[in-house]
Amino acid sequence: MSQFANLPKVELHLHLEGGAPPEFIRELAEEKGMSLYGVFDDEGNYKWHDFTSFLDTYHHACSVLTGPEEFRRLTEAVLARSASHGVIYTELFISPDICGGGDQAKWQDYLDAICEGCANAGQTHGIEARLTGTAIRNLGPEAAVNAARLIAVSANHWLTGFGMGGDERSGDIADFAPAFAIAEDGGMGLTCHAGELVGAASVEQTINALNVQRIGHGVRSIENPDLVKRLADENIILEVNPGSNVSLSVVPCWKDHPIQALREAGVMVTVSTDDPPFFHTDMTREYDMLAQTFGWTEEDFVEVNEVAIQAAFCDDETKARLTERL
Ligand code: ADE
Ligand code: ZN
Repeated sequence: MSQFANLPKVELHLHLEGGAPPEFIRELAEEKGMSLYGVFDDEGNYKWHDFTSFLDTYHHACSVLTGPEEFRRLTEAVLARSASHGVIYTELFISPDICGGGDQAKWQDYLDAICEGCANAGQTHGIEARLTGTAIRNLGPEAAVNAARLIAVSANHWLTGFGMGGDERSGDIADFAPAFAIAEDGGMGLTCHAGELVGAASVEQTINALNVQRIGHGVRSIENPDLVKRLADENIILEVNPGSNVSLSVVPCWKDHPIQALREAGVMVTVSTDDPPFFHTDMTREYDMLAQTFGWTEEDFVEVNEVAIQAAFCDDETKARLTERL
């Protein structure tokens, strides 16, 4: 067993549907008599070969998540798995475009079910969760404004953040500023995927256009030393997902992953899994690989987890409780 398996961990970047174990999706498909042709490979793992096909498989797998009850079950399954890897706090990305197709009443039903799943998992496994509602970039700025409105009006104990994922190559980030402004006015924490599929300029444009505290990925910032300095100076936190980056060929291999260089340059980095079963990873494996590749020790992980608590979209009382548990 890994020496890090039971180390308490804080995760800030986990897509709820992207955390769905393939068995969970297969079982639901069987229950419903739905075909998922092309979603799985011969070994029963998710099948994809590049970012576009990854997103296609992701959304195809989601087609069996037909209602709020499926999302409650999914939330419990994903949080149980996280807790089994020592995760004490996690932030899940959920989307009103996936949960209810952008309709307010439907979204509220899905959200209530997901919150119930968070509460149940908290009781059963002792894991704390928060939710970041996301817009999907490739659906465009108008859909993002709609998503932001739905998220801002339904903010609650669990739903505390707003973010954006999807295809970073799509659209001009400045056009999404109105959506982020709505969420900011609603008091949500803000994060946005950037610097994953597109280079440093994408991160720079994102922090110029949006008032985000965190960047999802951001690893390609390493291509511009001035930007790296700015991230460090402005305390912008990176939600780094090393295994995801290696798997999606954002970086060639673990040894060449910029997390070490970014951290050495004073950038506040955190460690997450993104969509763990798609990338054959989990939080324990991420820690094992960082220890193997860069010699990170328990002290390094505690430090990274302290950064994650600081950057978490939760109240100070929760942060104090989490710090105790580290
Ligand atoms: N949605 C799920 N995973 C994602 C990723 N790695 N980048 C952008 N959008 C995503
Ligand atoms: Zn992501």
